[in-house]
Amino acid sequence: MTVLIAGGAGYIGSTIASACSDAGISPVILDSLVTGRREFAASGTFYHGDIADGTLIDRIFAEHQDISAVIHAAALIVVPDSVADPVGYYGANVAKSLQFAAHLLRNGCRRLIFSSSAAIYRANADLTVDEDSVIDPQSPYARTKAVCEAMFADIAGAQPMRVLSLRYFNPVGADPKMRTGLQLRQPTNVLGKLIQARKQGAPFLITGTDWPTRDGTGIRDYVHVWDLAAAHVAALDRFDALPGPTTAINLGSGAGTTVRELVAAFNQVTDQPVEAREACRRPGDIAGAYTRIGRAERLLGWRPQYDIAEAIRHSLQWAALREEILPG
Ligand SMILES: NC(=O)c1ccc[n+]([C@@H]2O[C@H](COP(=O)([O-])OP(=O)(O)OC[C@H]3O[C@@H](n4cnc5c(N)ncnc54)[C@H](O)[C@@H]3O)[C@@H](O)[C@H]2O)c1
Repeated sequence: MTVLIAGGAGYIGSTIASACSDAGISPVILDSLVTGRREFAASGTFYHGDIADGTLIDRIFAEHQDISAVIHAAALIVVPDSVADPVGYYGANVAKSLQFAAHLLRNGCRRLIFSSSAAIYRANADLTVDEDSVIDPQSPYARTKAVCEAMFADIAGAQPMRVLSLRYFNPVGADPKMRTGLQLRQPTNVLGKLIQARKQGAPFLITGTDWPTRDGTGIRDYVHVWDLAAAHVAALDRFDALPGPTTAINLGSGAGTTVRELVAAFNQVTDQPVEAREACRRPGDIAGAYTRIGRAERLLGWRPQYDIAEAIRHSLQWAALREEILPG
C-alpha cells in the first residue's frame, strides 16, 4: 500500500511516515517546509510543495498510481498566531484544505484521514470529552479544524471520498528510534518548558493552582506521538470498515495528567530534578480535559502503548539529540 502524507515533514506527519514505513506501507511525503524539516522526510519519496498546488498533486498521483489513501496533517498550528492573523490561518488551513480536497477528488482519492484536534471540544463538567461532546472551538486555530471537519463531511456526503477525522489530544514524546521529534528548539508546551527548566537549572512555574481538578493544576491528556502514528496505521488498515462517509475518533491516552503529576513523573525520570514554583493563571489558560477512548478501541482496535514516563524519557532523549539531527 502507498499513502500520501501531506505535512509529512512535520512533527506528527513524519512520525506517521516512519510508522507506515515500519509497517510495510510506502509513504509519499508532500510538505512545503513552512515549519517542517527536510531531514524528517527521509522515510519516503519527498515532494517539496504546497497542498493547494494542483499541478503538483496531479504529478504526485501520476507518478504514484498506487496511492490508496491520503493523510492530511499539513497545517499551521500556533494558537496565538491564529489570534493575531486569522486571515492567514483560515487561508492556510481552510482555503488550502478545500483546494487540496478538490485536487484529491480529481485524482480519484477515496480515503482521506484528516489531522483534527481536541481543541474543537467544550469539555464536560467532569473534564472528560468523547466524540459526542459539544463542538465549541475557542481559538481561530481550533475553528479552522472544526470548519475543515464540517467541509470534509459535506464533501464526503456528495462525493465518493470517505473521511476519517482523528482528533488528537496532547502529543508528546518522539519516535522511539529517534528518527524524528519536535523540530522546535524551544517547545512552548508544558513538557518542553520542563525540559528547558532542567537544562537551565531554573525553576519551573506551575501557572494556576486553583482549577477544578484533583490537585488544582491544569489537566491534559498526553498521548505519545508514536501511539498517534500507530493509530494512523490501524486506521489505514481498517478504513473500509469504518461506519459512515465521515467518522471522527479521539486519540488520547484516556487519562488526564495534571501539571503537578507531570512534574512528579518528570522528576522520577530525570537525574536532574526540576524545582516547581506556583504562580497565577495566565490569560487564556483553561482547566483542560481528557478523553474517553472507547471509540478508538472499538473502531481501530487501538490502545496507547506508551505511558507518560516513556514519553518524558523519549522527549529528553530527543532534546539531547536534536541539534545533531537538525543542525541550524
Ligand atoms: N501538535 C499538536 O499539539 C497537535 C494537536 C492536535 C492536532 N494537531 C494537528 O496535527 C497536524 C500536524 O501537526 P504538527 O504538530 O506535526 O505540526 P508541524 O508544524 O510540525 O507540522 C505541520 C507540517 O505541515 C506542513 N505544512 C503546513 N502548511 C502546508 C501546506 N500548505 N502545504 C504543504 N505542507 C504544509 C509544515 O511544513 C509542517 O511540516 C496539524 O494538522 C495539526 O493541526 C497537532
